[in-house]
Amino acid sequence: MAIIYNETTGVFNLQTEHTTYQMKAGEFGFLLHLYYGERLEDGSDLSYLIQRADRGFSGNPYEARYDRTFSLDYFPQEYSCFGNGDYRADSIQTVNGDGSNVIDLRYCSHRIHPGKYTLPGLPAMFWGEDDGDSLEITLKDPVTGIQVILYYGVLEKGDIITRACKVINGSKDRTEVRKAMSVCLDINHNQLDFVHFYGRHCMERQMERTPLHHGKQSVGSVRGTSSHHHNPFIILCDRHATEERGDCYGMMLLYSGCFLAEVEVDQIHQTRAVMGIHPDQFSFQLEPGEKLVLPEAVMSYTRKGFSNLSKNYHDAIRNHLLRGEWAHKRRPILINNWEATYFDFDGEKLLQIARDAKDVGIEMLVMDDGWFGERDSDDSGLGDWQVNEAKLGCTLKELVDGVNRLGLKFGIWFEPEMICENSRLYQAHPDWMMRVPGRKGNIARAQFVLDFTRRDVRAYIEEAMSKVLDSANIEYIKWDMNRSMCNIFSAALPPERQGEICHRYVLGLYDLLERLTTKYPYILFEGCSGGGGRFDGGMLYYTPQIWCSDDTDAIERLKIQYGTSFGYPIGAVGSHVSACPNHQTGRLTPLETRGTVAMAGSFGYELDLTKMTEEEKNIIRSQIEEYKKYDELIHEGDYYRLCGPYGNDRVTAWQFVDKEKKNGLFCAVITRLQANPAPLIVKLKGLQKDMRYEVNGKIYSGSALMYGGMLLPVPKEEYESFRYEIKGIEQEGRTVLSPSESCSRIR
Ligand code: GLA
Repeated sequence: MAIIYNETTGVFNLQTEHTTYQMKAGEFGFLLHLYYGERLEDGSDLSYLIQRADRGFSGNPYEARYDRTFSLDYFPQEYSCFGNGDYRADSIQTVNGDGSNVIDLRYCSHRIHPGKYTLPGLPAMFWGEDDGDSLEITLKDPVTGIQVILYYGVLEKGDIITRACKVINGSKDRTEVRKAMSVCLDINHNQLDFVHFYGRHCMERQMERTPLHHGKQSVGSVRGTSSHHHNPFIILCDRHATEERGDCYGMMLLYSGCFLAEVEVDQIHQTRAVMGIHPDQFSFQLEPGEKLVLPEAVMSYTRKGFSNLSKNYHDAIRNHLLRGEWAHKRRPILINNWEATYFDFDGEKLLQIARDAKDVGIEMLVMDDGWFGERDSDDSGLGDWQVNEAKLGCTLKELVDGVNRLGLKFGIWFEPEMICENSRLYQAHPDWMMRVPGRKGNIARAQFVLDFTRRDVRAYIEEAMSKVLDSANIEYIKWDMNRSMCNIFSAALPPERQGEICHRYVLGLYDLLERLTTKYPYILFEGCSGGGGRFDGGMLYYTPQIWCSDDTDAIERLKIQYGTSFGYPIGAVGSHVSACPNHQTGRLTPLETRGTVAMAGSFGYELDLTKMTEEEKNIIRSQIEEYKKYDELIHEGDYYRLCGPYGNDRVTAWQFVDKEKKNGLFCAVITRLQANPAPLIVKLKGLQKDMRYEVNGKIYSGSALMYGGMLLPVPKEEYESFRYEIKGIEQEGRTVLSPSESCSRIR
């Protein structure tokens, strides 16, 4: 049993293979957080660690009367409330029927059940009864009757604890929820660094690590999407944490809209982290009896550093979040025409690319933006999901059949959530666009956002997309979203409900994704938002891969993919080889290196093959062969960041190892050349110490490679890269570990 409740002490122990999460329904019904860390075997009640003291200006709940040592202002809480004497970051704020803001939640009851709770309409991890249990704790404000159900999912083998919550208006009056976080975690010290992933369009998920300071620090998005600018994944780690060692607490929100991750260090140097929907632009009206379900947050703890934390997230996402036929199936190696042609193509041009693609071994052609409505530039046409046959010079079916006849699959681009003023859809339904009456709004890439809170709008888009999908053999969709939201307004909602739009929009998006992925289970969906502007666990529930960035420059991608790898599995990263000079940076890099970098992801090409020399095509042929060989390792194996791109500016290296720790792939990119250079030695990871491995024609022991390292050749050209297979050699008399013995593979 992963969840143990002690009736005498009121202590809940949530046990995973290596961690314990502990809380207690204590005096006066307050649910206190006691511990999250290395596994405690005996379930001891750690409430002795809370030192009670009389702290001035930290008042006491009335029931404590003149006991000045009982204060919510410094006691660790499981779900902090606004207005009840805890002045730190709150998890919930309400406006009650009488206009007051106080909410004071007390433990009421709980329920433990095998398997995983579900969150209808929202992405959530799933697992079976053998994999873990769930706990639901009901808290209630005795005065208003407002209830909050805290959900906990415990994935034992994966060292994962999920959290979510539901607010139920149990009062007699309409209540406004102003803020409701998904998770609150109190830690009893502040010797921690805050690691987060910031960025911009074409430079997503740059890792930043800063020591915590007193007061609040936060990251978040109010753009309607999770955004390029901050990612809904943060890590709190001890000041000396490295890839191999150190306490790391991860927190990931499975949500694709506005979010807030807020960390506060309090007066006695304790840390609180809360994460959930961003309270700006958010307020939700609940009539008596109505409920609001908040998105799921996924937590993991390890004392073995970033590498192990990433492994926990990678395995959990792959095995308990990705769904559908494509979750574990080998994804086709694709060619996308965006950087090859932009809007300037017709059916014949695409067939030409497809012919050359077939010749080098590519398996799918993706027709990107520009095939529908009147769309020869990004100024018009969004919303008109009718094939522009005049531009293609044929029907979609004729084009797809032609591509299929060549032996390639066919994929297509959509941007379903958008509308251009210059479109037939806008002429017919100007009110479907989100725009505040009397304001012109804000244009981004000549487009506006459709009101996806509306069922009729979504139904129209579903029908239009289905018509296209039913008309030809389409096996892949790139689902794009190319602007941030503002001037948010829905003509379908009354004034007091305008604060619900951002969340309702995300629910609408998930609803449409659910419908289409169910209706077309054989289609591989790829998420995209101007590259990686919506790279989050929420989208991964529907789309098992996401275009990582519109920046296809291999050297810039080193940093983007490095940051992405902390939380997200490598197979989720859409990654393509593009032309040189690179269209975003103008940089020249060897084709081999572009291949090395793109292979750390779901692989493809984004260039005009008809313009490539035979020599270049031969390189591409061998890259494709190689990727096919390593596909399973890249998608399902363990991933290790070895060095760079920040600490070591001469080389960035990474490595894949299968779950048996037997076969792997080493990759390195030289990022700076030097005269008379010092030797470049990179230490490998995740191998078996006493196993022998063949690497680049030589035999080494696992310990030599891990502790001594591998000596790289002296680089001969700028941005040169190295890819070496790591081949475990069967030895007589030596048993190679089976996957279950050698690792904690979840499936
Ligand atoms: C976004 C995507 C690109 C491409 C263009 C098409 O920017 O990230 O890959 O599809 O849209 O307009």
